[in-house]
Amino acid sequence: MKSLYYILFFVIFNSVYFLVICQNVPSPRREQSSTLVGTRLYFFGGSISSTIIVNEVWYLDLSSSFNISTPPWHSDAAMPVGDIFGTSCLSSIDNSTVFLIGGRMRIVNTRNFSYTSSVYKFDSKTSLWTAPTINNFNYSFQARNEMQAVIDNYGKIFVFGGNNQGNDDNITSTAYNDMSILDITTMFWSTQTQSQSVLINVDYTATLLPSGIIVYIGGRGSNTANLNDMSQIPIFDTKSYTWSTKSASGSIIASRADHSAVLTQDGNIIIYGGSTFNSSQISYVFSDIAVLNTTSWEWFLPSVSGTSAPPLSHHSAALYKNYMILAFGATSATNLYTNKIYILDTQNYTWVTTFNIPATTNPAKQTQSNGNSSTDQAKNSSSNLYIGVGIGVGVVILAVIGFIIYKNRHKEEFIATPGTSKDDCIR
Ligand SMILES: *[C@@H]1O[C@H](CO)[C@@H](O)[C@H](O)[C@H]1NC(C)=O
Ligand SMILES: *[C@@H]1O[C@H](CO)[C@@H](O)[C@H](O)[C@H]1NC(C)=O
Ligand SMILES: *[C@@H]1O[C@H](CO)[C@@H](O)[C@H](O)[C@H]1NC(C)=O
Ligand SMILES: *[C@@H]1O[C@H](CO)[C@@H](O)[C@H](O)[C@H]1NC(C)=O
Repeated sequence: MKSLYYILFFVIFNSVYFLVICQNVPSPRREQSSTLVGTRLYFFGGSISSTIIVNEVWYLDLSSSFNISTPPWHSDAAMPVGDIFGTSCLSSIDNSTVFLIGGRMRIVNTRNFSYTSSVYKFDSKTSLWTAPTINNFNYSFQARNEMQAVIDNYGKIFVFGGNNQGNDDNITSTAYNDMSILDITTMFWSTQTQSQSVLINVDYTATLLPSGIIVYIGGRGSNTANLNDMSQIPIFDTKSYTWSTKSASGSIIASRADHSAVLTQDGNIIIYGGSTFNSSQISYVFSDIAVLNTTSWEWFLPSVSGTSAPPLSHHSAALYKNYMILAFGATSATNLYTNKIYILDTQNYTWVTTFNIPATTNPAKQTQSNGNSSTDQAKNSSSNLYIGVGIGVGVVILAVIGFIIYKNRHKEEFIATPGTSKDDCIR
C-alpha cells in the first residue's frame, strides 16, 4: 500500500516537474538568428540585455496547433559560442544541417570575441554543434555581422556585405559591399568584390526567388543615419553573379533597417517592422506591413485585420505554410526586448491568435526568407494522439525512475527535489 502511495506521488511529482521544466519559455531577446527546419522554427543566440549575449537555442514546435499566448517552446543544445547579429540557413543538400554564419560571436559568458570559427554547423537530428573546416576562408570576414545569408538549391550560401565591428562593440566599424560565397558541397569559400556601383549594405533583408535572383531590401550604409531607399532595390543573379537594380513603383515605403522579410508562394515579399536610428540608438520602430510584388516590382500596403503585432525590430520572421510567424525583437526605442510571438495569415492579411495546422496535406513548396529554408511538411492530426500517448508513457517511465531514485536516496536520507536542469527534460 505504501509502494502504491510512492508511485502515485511520483506520477504527480514528475508530471508537475515535466510541465514546469518543459514548458519553460525563453527570456525576451533580440538580434538572434532563426531557421525553419521541417516543423521546427529554431532561434539561435540573441542579446537579453545590453551586456548579455546568449548561446541558447530554442525552437517552436509547429507540428500541432497552439494559442500564441502559450507557444510550444523547447530548448535544444546550446551553441559553442554566444551570438548576435549573425545569420543562419538550412542546408538545401540534406534539409537538416543548419549553418550559423558570422555575427558577434562571443566566448560564452564573456564579452570577448571568439575567433575559433566564423561558421558553425548544427545537426538538427543529433543536436550536435561542430566547427567545420573551410577551404580558402577569407579572414577579413571574421567578426562580420548584421547581414543575411541565403542558400540556393545547389548548396551555395551567399552573404552580402555586412559590418565588421572589430574586437569591441564601440570600435570604429567597417561596412562592406562584397559577396561572400560558401559552397557547402566542397566547403570552399570565395569572395566576390564589387564595383562602387553596388551600395554597401548592413541590416538589410535578403530573399531568394525561385528564379535564382536575390532581392535586397532596405538596410543602411556605413552609418546608421544613412538608410537605403526602399524603392531602389539591388538584385543579385546567383546564376550569372551579376548585380542590377529594380526601381519599385507603387506605395512609398519609409526607409528602415533591422526589419524582416518573408516570401509567399505567389511571389510576394512581405516586410514587417524595422527601425530608424539616432546615432546607433533605435529612435523609431515600425509596425507596418508592406508587400513587394516581385513580378510587377510594385509596393503595396494591404488592408490588415485582427489584433496587430506591436512595432518590432531586430526580430525574426519565417513563413510556415500560409503563416508569417514573428518572434522576439525590440518593440520600441525604450522597451528593448520581447519574447512574444505574432502570427499573420498571409492569405487574407489577418493577425491570428491561434496557429492551426491545415487539415489537408498541401505538398506545395513554401519558402521563408529570414533564415531561408523551405519546407513542405504536412502533418495530419492523428499525430497528436501519438504525442499524447508518448507523454503518457514518458510520465509512467519517469514515475518508475523517480520511485527508484527516491528509494535509493531515501536510504541515504536524502530526498530528491525538483531540479532546474533542462537536461532532465524529455525531448
Ligand atoms: C488564447 O489565449 C488567450 C489568453 O489565455 C485567451 O484570452 C484567448 O481567448 C485564447 N484564444 C483562443 C482562440 O483560444
Ligand atoms: C530537401 O527539400 C527540398 C524542398 O522541399 C526537396 O526538393 C529535396 O528533395 C529535399 N532533399 C532531401 C535530401 O531531403
Ligand atoms: C577578402 O575579402 C576582402 C573584403 O571584401 C577583399 O578585399 C579581398 O579581396 C578578399 N580576398 C580574397 C582572396 O578574395
Ligand atoms: C538624437 O538624440 C540626441 C541625444 O539623445 C537628442 O538630443 C536629439 O534630439 C535626437 N535627435 C533626433 C532627430 O531625434
